[in-house]
Amino acid sequence: MNVYDGWRIASMLTHHGMTQTDNVADADIIVLNTCAVRAKATDKVYSALGRIRRAKKPSALFGIVGCVARESGADAFRRIPDLNFVLGPQSYHKLTQILDNPDARLLNIDLGGLEKFDELPQMEKSPTVAYIPIQEGCNHCCTYCIVPYTRGREISRSFDDCVRDTIHAAKTGAVEICFLGQNVNGYKYTDENGKTYRLSDLIRAAAKIPEIMRIRFTSSYPTEMTDDLIEMFAVEPKLLPFLNMPIQSGSQNVLTRMNRPYSLELYTDIIDKLRAARPDIQISSDFIVGFPGETDSDFDQTMEIAKRIKYINSYCFKYSPRPHTAAALMTDQIPENIKATRLAQLDEYLNSVQREFNESCVDKTLSCLLEGPDKTGRHLVYRTPYMQQCIVVRPDGDAPVLTDIKITAANKASLRGEIVK
Ligand code: 5AD
Ligand code: SF4
Repeated sequence: MNVYDGWRIASMLTHHGMTQTDNVADADIIVLNTCAVRAKATDKVYSALGRIRRAKKPSALFGIVGCVARESGADAFRRIPDLNFVLGPQSYHKLTQILDNPDARLLNIDLGGLEKFDELPQMEKSPTVAYIPIQEGCNHCCTYCIVPYTRGREISRSFDDCVRDTIHAAKTGAVEICFLGQNVNGYKYTDENGKTYRLSDLIRAAAKIPEIMRIRFTSSYPTEMTDDLIEMFAVEPKLLPFLNMPIQSGSQNVLTRMNRPYSLELYTDIIDKLRAARPDIQISSDFIVGFPGETDSDFDQTMEIAKRIKYINSYCFKYSPRPHTAAALMTDQIPENIKATRLAQLDEYLNSVQREFNESCVDKTLSCLLEGPDKTGRHLVYRTPYMQQCIVVRPDGDAPVLTDIKITAANKASLRGEIVK
């Protein structure tokens, strides 16, 4: 979602006649797009602002947008008095106001719902992978999570708007569509005739667009994985065989305290149904370790579920207490050293499964989508259907955007391969 917001901000400023620079000292405006999900990300924002302030031209405008802006509000101006703007994740479309009135401080952290989508200018060119936000905010209120506070209550965009954006992306260069939302599979929109649309309807509509060859969506909440959506994995070949469906913990007790009230049986049943619908499907998850009250036995159950499901492409995090959340007030917080030990153990396991999965791809041929050149310019980076990076030697002439690649080598982080002519 933040990557998407960053693109929209860049595109809005380009419409306003600006060009991008990699050099802070050259910039007339510096926009820091921020994440508040863990304390570490928020802390980084303030140290980065200090660096930007020293490196920028005295006349350059600078400020923050996104979730830290929403969380800090006017306090950000108290911490950094010469900051020019603080705009929340649903008001960054107002950014250009600061260009018209550079001497005023611009503060807006309203939860404006979907207004920004109507006001942002359309992107002229789409990247090969286009993100299409279909809903904003989240109603789940997991007790550790700041997102319902920073991005607000859940609201789905109209079906027609989502389809219009998907067609626009396809006509301007997109080959892959990634439907986005904090609770993407909770997408639900009822039109003026009373017809209700779900994510499965959007997938069906996107699959009909000839330019769109690959479809995915992120992030999914387990209990919203309804049968119509699972069925899509069986019948729609353009839907990639890869799903991010975070479990967060393998302990029923911890899940209850997280306010994620699904049973582990239900979760594993959904995985079984998905695998029956699409035998080559792979699942990824996020995990939080060291949630308040998590015992050694709770953590062992997380290790067990990770071993049972064999997730790929997964992330684990140490629980980080966040403002405006219920878990931050729980009294049985876990000491840092225990969190670190559990994180290292789970991380090592997740990495070993990733390496194993990558190695199992060697000698296979996978259909891959071009992402762009690597840092050296001598190689090209492609993405497999499972979002693994696959690196190939840059061919002479134009490289194919979507192509079969024979995988020749693998390590924990990436694959190497050769384009199949
Ligand atoms: N502490 C640690 N990790 C968190 N996440 C969300 N909130 C917190 C927190 N307070 C993780 C969850 C979520 C991912 C985006 O970030 O695992 O899925
Ligand atoms: Fe946060 Fe995801 Fe829970 Fe929503 S479902 S509150 S975004 S962790």
